[in-house]
Amino acid sequence: MPATIIIGGQWGDEGKGKITDALAERAQMVVRPNGSTNAGHTVVTDQGVFKFHLVPSGVLHPGCDCVIGAGVAVDPVQLLNEIDALRERGVDLSRLFLSDRANVIFPYHPALDRAEEERRATQSIGTTLRGNGPAYSDKVGRRGIRVADLLDESALRDRLELIVPEKRLLLAGFDNGETLDVAALAEQYAALGERLAPLVVQAEMVVQDALAAGKRVIVESAQATMLDVDYGTYPYVTSSMPTAAGACQGAGIGPTQVDTVIAVYKAYTTRVGGGPFPTELHDETGQMLRDRGHEYGTTTGRPRRTGWFDAVAGRYAARLNGVTEVAVTKLDVLDTLPEVRICVGYRLDGEPIVAPPAVASVYERVEPVYEVLPGWQADTSSATSVDDLPPNARRYLERIEELLGVPVTMVGVGPGRQQLLHRQ
Ligand code: GTP
Repeated sequence: MPATIIIGGQWGDEGKGKITDALAERAQMVVRPNGSTNAGHTVVTDQGVFKFHLVPSGVLHPGCDCVIGAGVAVDPVQLLNEIDALRERGVDLSRLFLSDRANVIFPYHPALDRAEEERRATQSIGTTLRGNGPAYSDKVGRRGIRVADLLDESALRDRLELIVPEKRLLLAGFDNGETLDVAALAEQYAALGERLAPLVVQAEMVVQDALAAGKRVIVESAQATMLDVDYGTYPYVTSSMPTAAGACQGAGIGPTQVDTVIAVYKAYTTRVGGGPFPTELHDETGQMLRDRGHEYGTTTGRPRRTGWFDAVAGRYAARLNGVTEVAVTKLDVLDTLPEVRICVGYRLDGEPIVAPPAVASVYERVEPVYEVLPGWQADTSSATSVDDLPPNARRYLERIEELLGVPVTMVGVGPGRQQLLHRQ
């Protein structure tokens, strides 16, 4: 059976966790292909709120194997903390697997992250300072250390002997970086490796075997298309590949093994950190979206930037990812507005453009062209079917569907599991 990929269609935090959880009910495997602890996927159940950082959001479903794929950057300390916290809440983690090829975040990575952000000063990216960017840089620079390397202490020490001197230079005068100690790091990370060892597998083979056995596999991407390192608002992007193609790479599957790509969009837009955001609102409506939408980072608590739905960036994401279905979340957040706006076009120096420009400073100058639709000013959070939604809310969804060029099949009207409407 072909796999389903779930990706973010905007700048992240669209509610991919909830959509994954809903689909995982009928799946046998959920794979995380990219990102790191900078992701925060939230699932709200009768047992309370679960915030997953590295563990796939399918873990709450018995019978669903969960795989952390090769494209993920793993901080072993944080992964073990997450595992311990979930175990304490009674979650069964016997079906959790970790790729032996996933890259490892070492303590010098967050230190480099902070040092780089300080150096960038006014041009800082607004990273989560968890060390993901430096860890991915090391991966492509062939200076990475992978999960499999933690399982052999003497080989790990050799690898660190090669890598750490450069880190000492880069961190000289910062965070006592010049005192980084190879033996201590090797000992500490080999011990962490020992604790992780029961989870470690050749994940791509586990995923391939599941597909070959006809199992339903979901690939749960973190972050979102407009943060992609190639197609996002570079350099204000994440360091992994949050596209459908990146999901294939990170999970270890080929494009012909996928038949469904679901892009998740909020009914409005948010982003964290710096970078272009044409529909950003700095007014009361923006604050209302932040408050009603609880737009504060799952991982960092940072207030998110908020704005209207951007159908230009949205359509770009839908096309780049070959999206087959769309989930629109947080429709309920717009319930009180007398009118809603959708950005249907961009103008650059007075001329229309159809896609996000490559250069961030040019993208910053883009002016959004809005279409104004009437609001519905009625509660949608208790709707149990799309037919229950006010006509103006349905019209809003239809317009989004038209502009993205992809059917909207799911609509979120609240954080709860039951607050997800299925649409034909
Ligand atoms: P990243 O990979 O970090 O981008 O995360 P994500 O896309 O999984 O987003 P996250 O899980 O942080 O979800 C956003 C928040 O919205 C969570 O607190 C969810 O509980 C909540 N949420 C999801 N769907 C809805 C919805 O339809 N309505 C409302 N009001 N809240 C929702």
